[in-house]
This record gives sequence, C-alpha cells and structure tokens, in this order.
Amino acid sequence: MSDISKVSIQLSVWRMHDMEDRCIHVACCGGDAMLAELADEVSGDWVGAGIIDFAQRRASNVHSQPLELNKWARARLKSQTPRCVWLTGLSGAGKSTIASSLEQRLHAESRHTYVLDGDNVRHGLNRDLGFTEVDRLENIRRAGKVARLMADAELIVISSFISPFASERQMVCNLFKDGEFIEVFVDTPLEECECRDVKGPYAKARSGALKNFTGIDSAYEAPIAPEVHLRAGTLAVEGCVDIIHEWLK
Ligand code: ADX
Repeated sequence: MSDISKVSIQLSVWRMHDMEDRCIHVACCGGDAMLAELADEVSGDWVGAGIIDFAQRRASNVHSQPLELNKWARARLKSQTPRCVWLTGLSGAGKSTIASSLEQRLHAESRHTYVLDGDNVRHGLNRDLGFTEVDRLENIRRAGKVARLMADAELIVISSFISPFASERQMVCNLFKDGEFIEVFVDTPLEECECRDVKGPYAKARSGALKNFTGIDSAYEAPIAPEVHLRAGTLAVEGCVDIIHEWLK
C-alpha cells in the first residue's frame, strides 16, 4: 500500500546516489530541495521515495580548520581536569537543583564550571525544538556538542537534561574521551516527581493537555550502568552533591 506524507527522518549513514538515470520528474524541486529514495539495506528494494525540502546536514563543503593552541595547552592555565557531568532523570527529579548546588560547591573551590540546563537551553539555542523523539534527539545532540566544546575549553560542564533515551546518552558519551563523561542517574521515582509537580506539568500531562510527557505518555529509559546512581527520592541534595563531588576529586 502506498501513501504520501511529510516525515522527519534521521539516518546514521547517508549515501548520495546519482539520480540522473532514474525516470523521476524533478522539475518541482526548487532551492535546496533534493530528491531521495529509501531502500531496504538488506533486500535493496525500494521502500519509499520523496523530496527532501530541508536537509539538516549542509556542511559537505566545509572543512575543519586546524588551530595551534590545543586542549592541553589550555589545561595548563586552568589547572583542572575537564569533565562532563551528565545528569539524567525524570522532570522534577531534582537535576537542576543538584546541578546548581554542585556548581556552587566547585566554584567555592575556584574550579571553573558551567551549567547547561535543559530548560534554559530550550529558551535559546534549542527554542525551535519540541518534545517529539526526533526533537529530543536533536536537543541532546546539540547540548552534547556544546558540552564537548566547553570541555575543550577546560571547563567542568554540568549538564541537566531529562535525556530519556539510552542511545542519545551514548551518543553524547562517545563525544568524550574515557573518564571525561560521567553519567549521573538522578533516580527519583515517578510517583515522587508527580507528587512534587513544582510547575504543574504532570497534572497537565495526566489530563492530556500536555502530550509526549516523559514518564506519562513518553518513555524514560533508565541508565543501566551509570557512573553515579543517586537515589534522589530519599537522599537530600547535599548528600547527592557529596557523591558527585567525590567523583570529581
Ligand atoms: S529532554 O527530554 O529533551 O532531555 P529537557 O531536559 O530538554 O528534555 O527539557 C525538560 C523540561 O521541559 C522540563 O522542565 C519539563 O517540565 C519541560 N517539558 C515540557 N514539555 C515536556 C514534555 N512533553 N516532556 C518532558 N518535559 C517537558
């Protein structure tokens, strides 16, 4: 059965084919638009075809620019080991509170930090993104890249994002070298988060007014082997900060 619709597609591998010899009418493709076919990798059969009217990967003619000063030269000035402390957990789990408190602790020790908070980033860099799976993935991809840039600048980056999918957290982890990325699971049970409901999103999600809400009608994949597992439903903020702080020594 065939159908026509508008879709967002994320591909891990992108292959360009020469479409010249195909009998496809391309006159309608204006501007950046491009014709695409989708084939089954195993059988090679066509499973779809369409027009790409907004391709996010537009940097095929851009090359990396080598720079003279590297990360290690910057590290000597700062005298600290860069890290990415990645806090993941449900909305209302306490991620932002822990991030802020940890940053204050490190700042008091003259360590150079920055907090990347989901809510704040969604007001600026990621204000064009919503909460579909594709948008969340892009939210985390951008946040991860920014965290990596900050770690390159020798900062201890504390990132606080729900980041509900294991694959997207792995994608961010892969940006860092061994030991630089610390996954922290802020493990507060859904019932507790829902009970706190500080800004009221859970009540809205339960009523159906807020769609794709993590833990209600969108999945949260708990980390299986996080570097730090905080049972934040019972452990106070200071206790959580102590545990992460110990890791950063
Ligand atoms: S993430 O899933 O893409 O990692 P992120 O951490 O950036 O989420 O944003 C979470 C913030 O958005 C929370 O403050 C949360 O209350 C709010 N929010 C609004 N809509 C949703 C939703 N559908 N699902 C989860 N959080 C949401």
